[in-house]
Amino acid sequence: MGYAHEYAHAVLHRGRVPMEPTDHVVNWADGPRRGKYYPRAEAFALPETEDLPDVPIAPGLLPGAAGGPVPEPRAGFGLPLLSAMLKDSYGLTGRRLGVQANTDLAGLPYYHHANWSRGTAGGGGLYPVSVHWASGPSGPLTPGLHHYDVQRHALQRLLTGDVTGRVREALGPDAPDGALDTDQYLILGVKYWQNSFKYNSFCFHVVCTDLGTLAQTWRIWAAARGLRLAPALWFDEPALNGLLGVEGEEEAVFAVVPLRWDGAGSGRGGPDTARPGSALPEAPRTDPDHRPAVRHRDAERSRTLLGFPQVRAMHRATLEGATARPSPGALAAAAALTDTTLTDTADGDVRTPLPAPAFPGTGVRRALRERRSSFGRFDARREVSAGHLSSVLAACAGTRLAGDTDPSGEHRLARLYVFVNHVAGIGPGAYAYDPDRGDLRAVVTGPQGPFLQENYFLANYNLEQAGAVLVPTVRTTAVLDAVGDRGYRLAVATAGAVAQSFYLAASALGLGAGVALGFDNVSYAERLGLTDGDEAPLLIMALGHERPGPADFRHEIA
Ligand SMILES: Cc1cc2nc3c(=O)[nH]c(=O)nc-3n(C[C@H](O)[C@H](O)[C@H](O)COP(=O)(O)O)c2cc1C
Repeated sequence: MGYAHEYAHAVLHRGRVPMEPTDHVVNWADGPRRGKYYPRAEAFALPETEDLPDVPIAPGLLPGAAGGPVPEPRAGFGLPLLSAMLKDSYGLTGRRLGVQANTDLAGLPYYHHANWSRGTAGGGGLYPVSVHWASGPSGPLTPGLHHYDVQRHALQRLLTGDVTGRVREALGPDAPDGALDTDQYLILGVKYWQNSFKYNSFCFHVVCTDLGTLAQTWRIWAAARGLRLAPALWFDEPALNGLLGVEGEEEAVFAVVPLRWDGAGSGRGGPDTARPGSALPEAPRTDPDHRPAVRHRDAERSRTLLGFPQVRAMHRATLEGATARPSPGALAAAAALTDTTLTDTADGDVRTPLPAPAFPGTGVRRALRERRSSFGRFDARREVSAGHLSSVLAACAGTRLAGDTDPSGEHRLARLYVFVNHVAGIGPGAYAYDPDRGDLRAVVTGPQGPFLQENYFLANYNLEQAGAVLVPTVRTTAVLDAVGDRGYRLAVATAGAVAQSFYLAASALGLGAGVALGFDNVSYAERLGLTDGDEAPLLIMALGHERPGPADFRHEIA
């Protein structure tokens, strides 16, 4: 058993046995920036994106659902689409000034404390994932490696020249279909300090959720436009860290997302330059031993950087076997349990059928722009409808990262439970959701408000006022047993992906939402009767109507 098992246990029990260091004090004045900063790298503005017509989000939230809108199939990405996806997902698209229950409220109107919002949620709002684009000759720019500068919505060229051969080499010959016959890749790095300065040893867990939230925004965004994206999590990581010029223990590549590129009219790639039998242009002849690497360095703002042994240990543990990609069937052993696989459910169980899930025609951009955490604004006077609950549960249960270990998205890794407080026609209690039957099985009956509130660590929510609180579980240790310690990134990123599906499903339905990591996981396992198994409750996700007429400030017209 690797270190990841030990870490997973510590994370799960941290509400009862605090993780070291227990005396960590966050030095906010010396905190890092919310993004990497390359002061001397050339920047190119990305194309404007607002005039790109919006498309319904439904095919992204319920892929393959019968009767929903069917997106027009597309040949692939071009620069305008890529620009729009980056802006809608991680770009800064608004400023949070609404009155809510967080302790940072008083500072928000001051420019230097401004909280700029993004379409993607982020654990603690720290956004430690850095996005790079390795672009080869079939793209519209001079081939190179670029960093996405979220503040300016611009690309910064970190290196000139086609390095996509290095990326393909790092992915290895067994990479899934579509990963090797392209020369466009998004490379996702994680800068640990951007998170660990606040969360210390818990950092590794949180950054994995951040990987999942971003990857899932992209998957939903792309699916709504008839495109498919999936992150590869197994590759020669030291080689890609070396390419980015980063020290693995400080910043590491967590995922590579191959992009299908629309060659037609996108630039220099074309039939004349295509390699026989390949969609790719002829690779230039370079010295095979040449190892290009970015020379620009991210300028860190913090003067004092602290290291945390658990984060380093998890980095090393998940680095092991990085190139030994598990076979596609390996995850079957860690698939989410269903009522059919469980023996403790009986035919006599009380089941509550749910209406069929469905989403209105809300656009994907609109859902992303309107997404936000409710932070204390839930109001139980208006119940959540059973249809809305059903739709949000289905979107969450349908979430797959469909990466290199499961390209067909066959294996569901997350199972959903729900604590019902105020849902029309469904009695209060805790239920297990069965996505195949589309119903709920009662686990505990009666009001759950006091339990929910007692086991939440912060004071910014009254969870009893939420219509329902959804709880995704992942069989984290089974994932580790099936695919090794690197599977920790996959298991927890899956929970992050579910969280992002949750936020976007709620936004599409006009409901308030709030995801949280700050709760006592063990109490939830006990309440849901999971202590004898390996299902780990990883998040709580509150859903409900918000108080009407909230105070807000329209900074954009001020
Ligand atoms: C995995 C995850 C865990 C989170 N944990 C908490 C939490 O414990 N408490 C909380 O109030 N918000 C939590 N959040 C919400 C984030 O703080 C929020 O997404 C971020 O501050 C950005 O704000 P926004 O969602 O309003 O854009 C979490 C979000 C995610 C994705």
